[in-house]
Amino acid sequence: EEGISTFVLMDADVCDIIPIRQLKGHKGTHGKGILVAGSKGMSGAAVLAGQGALRSGIGLLQVVTPLGIAREVDAGITEATVWSAPGADSLNEEAWPVVLKQAEKAKALAVGPGLSQNIDFVSVLEEILKNISCPVVLDADALNLIGLDSSLLALRSGRGELILTPHPGEMARLCQCSIEDIERNRLEIAVAKAVEWEAVVVLKGSVTIIASPDGRAFFNPTGNPGLGTGGTGDVLTGSILAWLAQGVPPLEAACLGVYLHGKAADALATEFGWSGFTASEVANQLPKVRRALE
Ligand code: APR
Ligand code: MG
Repeated sequence: EEGISTFVLMDADVCDIIPIRQLKGHKGTHGKGILVAGSKGMSGAAVLAGQGALRSGIGLLQVVTPLGIAREVDAGITEATVWSAPGADSLNEEAWPVVLKQAEKAKALAVGPGLSQNIDFVSVLEEILKNISCPVVLDADALNLIGLDSSLLALRSGRGELILTPHPGEMARLCQCSIEDIERNRLEIAVAKAVEWEAVVVLKGSVTIIASPDGRAFFNPTGNPGLGTGGTGDVLTGSILAWLAQGVPPLEAACLGVYLHGKAADALATEFGWSGFTASEVANQLPKVRRALE
């Protein structure tokens, strides 16, 4: 605990991070982001992450998803281009060439929402960690697969920026400890792992901690229990992807994404209280809460 500098995020910090749109900006300057997501029965996770990205101002969203659900994903995110990779139910090792090709001109990549845990996808995660030079966000089942052997994260060493967005269960798997261990020591573990993995670690919860590889930690004061409903984490991943695509550096993109995501839920709570709003509605609130801070 000694030596960890902690901060509480506030409107003033976050409003300085929001990128300014240029009058002559176009979808190229607003950045292309790649989302690798979805599996049979979890196409919704890909769609929600896509909504999070689009509602956060991404210039161009490209989704890589298994062939078996590509039509659903395509129909669910009108604005995105969808690239199917082989797989009826889930992505496997054959997804790598598709990801590599799409990532060529991408500003950021996010992997994980609704991916499911096909062991044949681990090699793609390895290739991504080794070869993709833009910032990479790992969430959900990408983290669960890495959790089988978290030493894989060392493949990223010196290769560029990495953001992990675990909930306590995913963090426990990554750290090979129990959820109780994580909850008892959230700050210390988040910071120690951010340093060890050279990654921004977004440890989610009622107070999400954003830990930086330089040993600092940021507490997020926004959000409410209404966020405890399926799909809100997927929206957050898409939003962070969008801020990265717009050129926001990883630590700032994580802070901005988490803060606005909570603010969106707080805006919904004024109308609905702490339950009954949905992940899509959280995504849809994002532009308004961003605007209020500008
Ligand atoms: N107060 C504030 N924020 C909260 C609260 C709360 N009481 N409860 C939850 N949240 C926020 C978290 O901080 C996080 O941003 O809601 C989000 C929940 O994200 P996830 O735990 O990833 O949940 P979800 O989106 O449903 O994940 C979908 O992916 O991670 C897997 O196992 C997960 O299968 C599930 C799927
Ligand atoms: Mg999740």
